[in-house]
Amino acid sequence: MSHYAAHRQTRVPGGIPVEIARLRSLSFAYQKQNFNAQIPSEFSNPNLEVLISEEQLQSRIQQLGLEIARDYAGRNPLLIGVLKGACLFMSDLMRAIDIRLGIEFMAISSYGMSTRTSGEVRILKDLSVPIDARDIIVVEDIVDTGLTLSYLLANLKSRGASSVKLAALLDKFERREREVPIDYLGFKIPDHFVVGYGLDFAERYRNLPYIAVLKNPE
Ligand code: IMP
Ligand code: MG
Repeated sequence: MSHYAAHRQTRVPGGIPVEIARLRSLSFAYQKQNFNAQIPSEFSNPNLEVLISEEQLQSRIQQLGLEIARDYAGRNPLLIGVLKGACLFMSDLMRAIDIRLGIEFMAISSYGMSTRTSGEVRILKDLSVPIDARDIIVVEDIVDTGLTLSYLLANLKSRGASSVKLAALLDKFERREREVPIDYLGFKIPDHFVVGYGLDFAERYRNLPYIAVLKNPE
């Protein structure tokens, strides 16, 4: 019997090969016991209050993935992630969509406060493929005023896409200025400044595995 075949036969009930399961539990134990005692933890920073836990995020994203897979079966949609905030949502969401699909990324930024109300945004990184006749799903971290998304959705529609839908993890609905239809929504949240799971405050906290309210933005 080959080495590989021998490995394939030793499985724990969950289906994970014993060797991988052992390495995993070792690495978790290592992180918890050895590292956390010595390195100041960003994830348990006292300035953060958990709003949506890692488990809540993951289970909602699995549901969204199933819904998208059902709606787009046989259609090869193109997921367009909006950098940088949607990076974690994008990577978890696409793994939850078990159909053929493609991915692209765009980076956009608003022009600044003076043109904020016009909703004009600057494209910092554009798509690298044409999208005419494609089914687009924009993947965004949060819809706040809606100015960014209403510009972006119109821009993508004008390029001849067959359809343009929006998957947004968070909806800060109380602050909406432009109507933006959210086809796949993770969570509605109250009007607090939130960080984590891709969202930042001055480029910090994107790496948190959960969504938190920043108690004291300093
Ligand atoms: P909108 O154009 O006002 O909808 O702004 C959307 C963008 O603002 C999002 O893509 C985020 O990058 C950013 N944003 C809005 N609210 C928050 C927040 O609570 N935390 C972090 N970023 C936010
Ligand atoms: Mg964003």
